[in-house]
Amino acid sequence: AEGKEKVKRAPVVSVMGHVDHGKTSLLDYIRRTKVASGESGGITQHIGAYHVETGHGMVSFLDTPGHAAFTAMRARGAQCTDVVVLVVAADDGVMPQTKEAVDHARSAGVPIVVAINKMDKEEADPDRIKNELAGMDVIPEDWGGDVQFVPVSAKTGEGIDDLLEALLLQAEILELEASPDASAKGVVVESSLERGRGSVATVLVQNGTLRQGDTLVAGAYYGKIRAMTDEAGKQVKEAGPSIPVEILGLNGTPDAGDEFFVVADEKKAKELAEFRQTR
Ligand code: GTP
Ligand code: NA
Ligand code: MG
Repeated sequence: AEGKEKVKRAPVVSVMGHVDHGKTSLLDYIRRTKVASGESGGITQHIGAYHVETGHGMVSFLDTPGHAAFTAMRARGAQCTDVVVLVVAADDGVMPQTKEAVDHARSAGVPIVVAINKMDKEEADPDRIKNELAGMDVIPEDWGGDVQFVPVSAKTGEGIDDLLEALLLQAEILELEASPDASAKGVVVESSLERGRGSVATVLVQNGTLRQGDTLVAGAYYGKIRAMTDEAGKQVKEAGPSIPVEILGLNGTPDAGDEFFVVADEKKAKELAEFRQTR
């Protein structure tokens, strides 16, 4: 609409791949924190969302579980994503959830950057990964295709800078824009009920700016944002395009992938949410 100036926004990047190929470890390395170190080697149970200043520009990352049970979550992850980083362990190769991630990225029309991880391992065989993926029509640039393959190690940090450059280059081509002044809307990344806090939802703002005190509809639920925190647990008053935040105040737990949008008043929000509950 008028007066809604568009500005460049950060890419939203989903990190996908087979279980234990190193998605969370890569993100941990990128964030250079130990916050999630307890999870590395463990099972990612949900989509984690983080935004980081990479030194090459800001990026929002969605970490997705590789376990077979989380197919729907990966599909939803692909839908709210600009670029998929496909993590393949160089000592293991293309596996069922690698293939599935390729399918999700393709059906969502999202470009893929391949991170060949665990290059520090003696058994690492990057050419095998290239061969296997080329067989699925994911063709490396150096083989005449259009997909960037970046050898990395989440353990040593080798290649991580190249990976960030590759995905920011990919994002640049997409010319991603949003209007910070627009009414906020986006998607629910995950939500749960927490003792003493009520409904806690991680949402990704796709357009506009979400503010504490806003009233929103999220899936079949609604509420006024009582508090908002970033991924580090720090209180924030607002979140602009491509930024994930945790919000308190919804009257229930919407599903991952549900849309949210801000409405003018609580009465309207209640009507819209209740209408959605009947469907
Ligand atoms: P899920 O979320 O369960 O699908 O796994 P994930 O892909 O997030 O893998 P995670 O980061 O949990 O790593 C799995 C195991 O691989 C852990 O033991 C990591 O320490 C190890 N690992 C990850 N990246 C590397 C790497 O680059 N080199 C080596 N040697 N080990 C790695
Ligand atoms: Na794991
Ligand atoms: Mg993980």
